[in-house]
Amino acid sequence: MNRPDAERRIAELRRQLESHNHRYYVLAAPEITDQEYDRLYHELAELEQHFPDLATPDSPTRRVGNDLLTGFVTRRHAVPMMSLDNTYNETELREFDRRACDLLGVPALAYSVEPKIDGVSISLRYEHGRLVHALTRGNGTEGDDVTANVRTIAGVPLNLRTPHPPAVWEVRGEVYLARRRFLELNAERAAADEAPFANARNAAAGTLKLFNPREVARRRLQAVFYGCGEISGATVSSQAELFAQLRELGLPTPTLTWQAAEIGGAWAAIQEVAEKRHALPYDTDGAVVKVNDFARRAALGATAKAPRWAIAYKFAAEKAVTRLRQVTVQVGRTGALTPVAELEPVSLAGSTISRATLHNFEELARKDIRTGDWVEIEKAGEVIPAVVRVLTERRTGDERPVPRPEQCPACGKPVRATDDEVAVRCVNPACPAQLKERLRHFASRGAMDIENLGEAMVNLLVDQRFVSTPADLYELAPAAWERLKTCEGLGDKSVANLMAAVDRSKANPPWRLLFGLGIRHVGTRLAQTLTAHFGGLDPLFAASVEELQKAEDVGPVVAESIVAYFMDAQNRTQLERLRHAGLGFADTAAPAAPPPPNPFQGKTCVLTGVLEGITRDEAAALLRRLGARVTDSVSKKTDFVIAGDQAGSKLDKARTLGVEILDAAAFLARLPAGGEAGGGGETETKDLNDLRDLV
Ligand code: IVH
Repeated sequence: MNRPDAERRIAELRRQLESHNHRYYVLAAPEITDQEYDRLYHELAELEQHFPDLATPDSPTRRVGNDLLTGFVTRRHAVPMMSLDNTYNETELREFDRRACDLLGVPALAYSVEPKIDGVSISLRYEHGRLVHALTRGNGTEGDDVTANVRTIAGVPLNLRTPHPPAVWEVRGEVYLARRRFLELNAERAAADEAPFANARNAAAGTLKLFNPREVARRRLQAVFYGCGEISGATVSSQAELFAQLRELGLPTPTLTWQAAEIGGAWAAIQEVAEKRHALPYDTDGAVVKVNDFARRAALGATAKAPRWAIAYKFAAEKAVTRLRQVTVQVGRTGALTPVAELEPVSLAGSTISRATLHNFEELARKDIRTGDWVEIEKAGEVIPAVVRVLTERRTGDERPVPRPEQCPACGKPVRATDDEVAVRCVNPACPAQLKERLRHFASRGAMDIENLGEAMVNLLVDQRFVSTPADLYELAPAAWERLKTCEGLGDKSVANLMAAVDRSKANPPWRLLFGLGIRHVGTRLAQTLTAHFGGLDPLFAASVEELQKAEDVGPVVAESIVAYFMDAQNRTQLERLRHAGLGFADTAAPAAPPPPNPFQGKTCVLTGVLEGITRDEAAALLRRLGARVTDSVSKKTDFVIAGDQAGSKLDKARTLGVEILDAAAFLARLPAGGEAGGGGETETKDLNDLRDLV
C-alpha cells in the first residue's frame, strides 16, 4: 500500500475502532464481535508498523505502554476534588433538602440521583479534545498522575468524540473493576496460591497504582463519569445536561440515573437504586443526591470539606444474624488449613448463605468465635460473606470454643504453624486432602483440562488408592483401569472416557503442565510467559533465580518459589515420570501464534459420527488450535455439534437443546483460510492440507 492510501486507511480504521469502543462502552450496543474488532485492530497495528511516523500517541494501538513506570508525578487539581457528606436515613436526607431550600429561599429543589459507585475517584483532563492527564483524588488538592494506567481503560476515549472540542474539559468519575472480572482475577490468584483481593475496590485501587501498564491493561479496569472539574469553551448548566454531554463526547456514564422534581422523588429514586444496584456491573455503597441546577449549586457553595449541594445516602452494609453450627477445616493444595463457618442458612443480599469464611485460626481466636454462637455475617463489597462478630449477649453457656487443630483433619498427622505467616499447615506430603486438591488442580480446566476428572472421580481415585499423584494417572496399568470399571457408580463408558481424556491431555502445550504442577505464584499467564521465554520446561528447570528474573513479570519471590520447586527431589522424580509417560516438555509453538480470527474461538464444540474428508481427531486438533474447547458430551453449554454419518444420541440431544449443528462441509467452510494465519485473501481456497498446517 502506498503512503497516501495507508494514511487514509489508518484514519478510517481509527475512526471505526473509536466508534466501536463508543458503541460498546458508552451505548452498551456493540455492532461487531470481539473477533471483528481484533481484526480491525491488527490491521491498524500492522499499517502503523509499516509506516511508523503515522503511528501517533493517540492511536488505539498505543493505549498500553511497554515501559515500566518509575513512579507517579504529583499534580495540582485545577478545581479541588471534594468529598461528600453522608446520611443514613430519610430524616437526615430531608434535613439536607430543607437547609438547601432555606439558603436559596426556594420552596423545593430538583435533584439528580445516581448510584454511589464504590471505586476509586479519578479526574481526567482533556485539552482541545485530547486526553492530557488523569489524576487520582490524592489529598483533594493534588493527586498522582496515573495517565499511563488510565489510558489502558478501553472505555476512556483518548480523544473526545467531537469535531469542535472545548479548550478544557475536565471530567470526574470512578475507576472500577467489574464484579465479574474481580472474581476472575481472584480465582487466578487463588490458583497461583496468591492472597486474594479483599474486594473489587481494593483490587481497582491497587491496580491503578501499579507501575506496569501492561499488567494494568490485563486486569481490565473500567471507568464511569458523573462530574466535572474545570471547563472552558463549553457551557453545562445542569447535571442532566452534563450526563447528556458526557455521553455525546464518548464518556461512559452510569446506566441508572434519576431526575426528581423535589426531595420526595429523590427518596423514591434512592429506593430504586437499592433495589437495582445488584444488577449493576460495579459495586455500589449508596446513592448520591445532587441539586440538578448548576447556578443553584454555585449559590449554595461548599463547606471546607464537601459541597452543600450534594449528599451521599449510604446503604448499611448487608448483614444478617444466624447460628454457627460448626467449624469445618479445609485443607488446601499447599496444606494450608482454613477454618470455614458452617451456618444455619440465612438470606443475605439476595442469596442464601450457609457458609462463611473465617480466614484463619488467628482470626477465629481473636474474635472468640465458638460453635453454637449467634454470629453476625456481612457481605462487604459483594465478596464471600465473612463472620464479623459474635453476639455474646445471646450466649447460653453451651457454646464450645474451636480449638486450633494440632492434627490435620484429613490425614491425622501433626500440623505446623510457621512463624512468618498466620497459616497452620499440614506438612505431610502424602496427606490425601492435599493429594486430592493437587490432582483436582492438575486436571482443572485452566490446567490440563482433563474432562471426566472432577471432584467425585478424584476422591474415588485417591480414596481407593488408584492414584496419588498426576504421574500415577498416566501410569495406571490396564488391569487397574479394568478394576476401576467395577467401582460403584462407574461403568465401562465413564472409565473409557476418562482414559481417553487422560491420553489426550498428553498433547497439551507445556504451559498447561507447568500451571498444573501448582507451583506457588505460578498462574496461567505466568506459566505461558515462562514456557515461551525459555522455549520449554527443561531450560526452565535448569534456570537460576537470576535467570528466571529476566523473564517478564518474574520477581525474586516468584523466582525463589520456582527454584525451590525444582530443587525438590520428589518433584523432580514426578516430572521425569510425566516426561516418560509422553507429556510434552518442549514449547514447539514458541512463541505461540495467536489463532486467526474464526467463528470457533472460545466456543465449546462436540464432534460425532464419521466426518467426510477429515478424521475426528484432526478436526478436534484443528478446533483446539483455533481456540475452541472440544468436549465429549452435548449440554446447554455446547455451541456447535459437528456431526457426520452415523451420528447418534449426541446429534439427537443437540436437536433437543437447539444447539447449532454443522455437517463436515459446513464445518470446513467456516474455517479460516489455511496457510497464513488470518487468511484475508480475496479467494479463500481452503485446501485441507493448508488447514492441517494450522494444527
Ligand atoms: S459526586 C464534590 N457522584 O464518592 C464531590 N461522587 O464519598 C462530588 N462517588 O469522592 C462527588 N459515585 O469518588 C459523586 N455518582 C457519584 C459518585 C461519587 C461515587 C465517590 C466519589 C467521591 C466519594 C465521596
